[in-house]
Amino acid sequence: MERYWPHLFMFSNLLLTLLPSSSSSSSSLSIASSGSSSLLQQPPQPKCREDERSALLEFKQSFRYPIDSYYSYGLEVKLEPWKLDSWKPDGGHGNCCIWDGVECDAKSGHVIGLDLCCTGLHASINSSSSLFRLVHLRTLNLAYTNFDQSPIPFAIGNLTGLTYLNLSACELSGQIPKWILGLTNLSSLDLSLNSKLELMRPSLGDLLRSLTNLEELDLTWVNISSSLIDFPTNLSSLSSLTLRDCGLHGHVPGSLFTLPNLQVLNLDDNSLSGHMPEFHWSSRLKSLFLVENDFSGELPASIGNLTQLIELDLSFNRLQGPIPIFADGTQLTTLFLPFNQLTGCLPSSLGNLFQIQSLQLSYNHLTGQIPPQLSNLSHLVSLDLSFNMLSGLVQLDTLLELSNLMVLVLDFNNLSVITKSNITASRHSTGLAQLNLASCNLHSFPRVLLKLEKLSILDLSSNKIHGEVPMWFQDVARENLMYLNLSCNSLTGFSGNLAALRWKKLIHLDLRFNMMRGPLPLPLESIVMYHASNNRLSGVIPSLLCSRRFIQVLNLAKNNFTGVIPECFGNLTKTLSILSLHNNNLHSGIPRLPDKNCSLRMLDLNNNQLEGPLPRSLASCAALEFLNFGDNAIEDTFPSWLGAITTLMVLILRSNRFHGAMVEPTDNCEFPALQIIDLSRNNFKGRLPAKYFQCWKSMRVSNVEEGEYIGEYMDSPTALGYVPDTYDYYMTIMNKGMEMEYAKILDYFQVIDFSSNNFSGEIPMSTANLTGLRLLNFSNNILSGPIPSFLGNLMNLEALDLSKNRLSGEIPQQLTQLTFLEFFNVSGNNLSGLIPQAPTPSTPNQKERDRDASTIIEWKAVVMGYVGGFVIAAVIGHKIITENPDTRSASSLFHARWSIPKELQVTISSAA
Ligand SMILES: *[C@@H]1O[C@H](CO)[C@@H](O)[C@H](O)[C@H]1NC(C)=O
Ligand SMILES: *[C@@H]1O[C@H](CO)[C@@H](O)[C@H](O)[C@H]1NC(C)=O
Ligand SMILES: *[C@@H]1O[C@H](CO)[C@@H](O)[C@H](O)[C@H]1NC(C)=O
Ligand SMILES: *[C@@H]1O[C@H](CO)[C@@H](O)[C@H](O)[C@H]1NC(C)=O
Ligand SMILES: *[C@@H]1O[C@H](CO)[C@@H](O)[C@H](O)[C@H]1NC(C)=O
Ligand SMILES: *[C@@H]1O[C@H](CO)[C@@H](O)[C@H](O)[C@H]1NC(C)=O
Ligand SMILES: *[C@@H]1O[C@H](CO)[C@@H](O)[C@H](O)[C@H]1NC(C)=O
Ligand SMILES: *[C@@H]1O[C@H](CO)[C@@H](O)[C@H](O)[C@H]1NC(C)=O
Repeated sequence: MERYWPHLFMFSNLLLTLLPSSSSSSSSLSIASSGSSSLLQQPPQPKCREDERSALLEFKQSFRYPIDSYYSYGLEVKLEPWKLDSWKPDGGHGNCCIWDGVECDAKSGHVIGLDLCCTGLHASINSSSSLFRLVHLRTLNLAYTNFDQSPIPFAIGNLTGLTYLNLSACELSGQIPKWILGLTNLSSLDLSLNSKLELMRPSLGDLLRSLTNLEELDLTWVNISSSLIDFPTNLSSLSSLTLRDCGLHGHVPGSLFTLPNLQVLNLDDNSLSGHMPEFHWSSRLKSLFLVENDFSGELPASIGNLTQLIELDLSFNRLQGPIPIFADGTQLTTLFLPFNQLTGCLPSSLGNLFQIQSLQLSYNHLTGQIPPQLSNLSHLVSLDLSFNMLSGLVQLDTLLELSNLMVLVLDFNNLSVITKSNITASRHSTGLAQLNLASCNLHSFPRVLLKLEKLSILDLSSNKIHGEVPMWFQDVARENLMYLNLSCNSLTGFSGNLAALRWKKLIHLDLRFNMMRGPLPLPLESIVMYHASNNRLSGVIPSLLCSRRFIQVLNLAKNNFTGVIPECFGNLTKTLSILSLHNNNLHSGIPRLPDKNCSLRMLDLNNNQLEGPLPRSLASCAALEFLNFGDNAIEDTFPSWLGAITTLMVLILRSNRFHGAMVEPTDNCEFPALQIIDLSRNNFKGRLPAKYFQCWKSMRVSNVEEGEYIGEYMDSPTALGYVPDTYDYYMTIMNKGMEMEYAKILDYFQVIDFSSNNFSGEIPMSTANLTGLRLLNFSNNILSGPIPSFLGNLMNLEALDLSKNRLSGEIPQQLTQLTFLEFFNVSGNNLSGLIPQAPTPSTPNQKERDRDASTIIEWKAVVMGYVGGFVIAAVIGHKIITENPDTRSASSLFHARWSIPKELQVTISSAA
């Protein structure tokens, strides 16, 4: 339920409006307004009544001041705790009618309105609260007051005069009391953003049947957990209904869409299903939001005739069929249909959407060409057609002539983007902030980019651009570019002999998978994430990188760097979270790290020629998850001093000069998170570490259902703010006799490889506790004794290699229980007796394979409205979809562990 919030704090420079119905001025409804405006119109102030004055003062007494100046959940609602400062016995000469937020009846002087929105004040509340003595109240707004998880007091039922009640984001909890059904004068009720409130008994149906004058109802986050079967159909007053993320499920009755006065319907983030009905032409619907549900079938053709409709967001459903034909005169400003299964062409009638500002059709199965009519849509701010099967030539210059366009995303279609060669002929398009042309059949850098001075995001990855990056390209948005992705082309380097690249605000540079030669191109000080792996870069790693004080990710793997790892990299670990230098030609020792403030989570130095011992100061990197020193010439003993790091999941020391016995802890358990350990091809000796095997708790479970990849979750900039991005950990490991490369590592993949050492003695009993293991390799040691029958406990084993030891006795029958076993090697021992009926090799676990295929990392970034030159609202989501819909919200993914430093965040404004 809270899955979007953790990211929203990153949008500090964007004004956020989270409830779409209020995000566009054109769709907001007029409601009974409360408070001070009417005071201004009535100069002779009514006189406050004594009993009500003391009730107000008593109410104020109950509050404590908030700790933060913003509301929690990162909603960026600035609190105004001083609102009650004028509430003093002598304030306004004792006339409470002129206190802030208080409205009195002109004749009687009774308090009829209280607007205390957004004070953030804390208090628990119950029915004895003096608030309920204000029985003449008609409007009451306490939104963003913190009631410390109090239930809604039953005395609310005494305020029968209420027409407007707003208790949004009040930290209320429990069942909504039945007394609320007595407030039959209510025309607006907002109980949204109270995630601990429930509406079950009474039910939503009871509420709607009682409050027959209700025009506006918002229950976002309130736990309703029911179907809409009991939804009354005769709600003639209702004009705005928001039931976002309420745990609703089942079929939606078609009549809900066609309530006579309905203007705003928001059912986002539920599990509702069904088909959308045809709409009557007289429908007054202005905003329709059904994001992240299970709606299927075709879009009704009549939707194209709804002339009042302004916003339509049906993202993340299973809608099929064509995009409807839009009639001339439609008012739509926002049309979002991404992540559905729509087919057919982009209809030329999209050209009738003269008001459209944001058009998002990504992740569908759309075919055909981009209709030329799109270039008539002069209000268009954001256009995203990515991940479809659109084809044909796209004249980029023409789209860039849309003078309001800020975001243009055409990634991954079958499009061929072309540009005019004479850029002086193209009109200056100033506002574009984001241009994504990944996989658009580009053969060279389009010169028209030089015109796009405001560009902050540029993705030209997966094209066919070859040769050197021309000198002029470094002048593209020199002052503004933050994100540049040139990966997966055939680039050989940057032309010119610059000491550093020129982009002043570049924070994310991706040059992976090109043919870059020569020294490493050096970005300026702003860089945060730099990927240059899979190239042919050579020379030394410049120590100048150490002056890049914001850098968090440095990935230079799979190049031909020589020399040493600069000594100053030790200091860089204060900011550096990921350092990947594997598959280069680096030699000498590993730099010393400072004794504290190490941020490293991932260090991969695999396959170099590094020597010497491991720096003991690594033990101070308390957040380490992944360490790979494999395939070097490191000489040391087993690093048991890393055992206190509670997050370490992967430890690879393969093929080095490690030696000695594995010293185990005497009392406390160490390496509690370890799930992959590869010590193969070293000179370890002594007994197998029985105590460790007992301690490695994370190898006891195999939680296939959770299946996520291990790696970093981080933020990448988009023109609308930062979206979560992932960095998957990579490794090679021997699996079933073959060296295998893992571009991603599933979090339930568990491996012990101790092969090719000098371990001796028997296989310890505690091995049986490692029931999550997939691969176990003890081969090529000097182990003796029998093959223990308890190995039959390791039910998840896919490969068991005990070959080339001194094991004796029989092969235990219990091993035939290992149904996933595909590889079993006990050759080169002194075994005797019968061979048990060999375990039948099973096909690789089908479920896992499906998961790999269907795991899609998705993101959506949407402009909800566009006013006065700024994007005024953005909703960002990110999720992993697996075949199990219940894991869709895989919550651990929503906690980005770090984000772009505040200093580097910029406001992206349009030129409009
Ligand atoms: C209501 O709250 C007040 C103030 O917190 C407290 O003194 C009183 O005991 C509470 N009454 C009930 C019935 O809980
Ligand atoms: C609410 O109304 C009931 C019955 O009308 C009355 O007994 C009770 O005292 C009222 N409560 C308050 C707080 O005024
Ligand atoms: C309730 O108050 C909040 C905060 O001012 C506001 O955003 C919301 O629109 C209000 N709800 C209604 C229904 O007016
Ligand atoms: C759209 O409206 C026109 C006239 O207003 C009508 O002729 C046509 O049948 C309508 N189309 C749909 C699909 O409702
Ligand atoms: C480029 O376009 C401009 C403006 O249309 C024109 O004046 C100029 O001659 C063109 N240059 C070339 C080389 O075609
Ligand atoms: C790597 O660099 C070394 C020395 O500079 C050179 O001999 C070798 O050919 C290079 N390897 C590749 C694959 O470019
Ligand atoms: C690391 O930082 C410390 C303190 O800023 C400095 O004294 C030291 O010289 C630095 N070490 C290297 C190798 O840059
Ligand atoms: C470890 O395995 C042994 C033998 O199977 C068993 O007796 C013991 O309870 C297991 N310990 C844990 C902590 O599972």
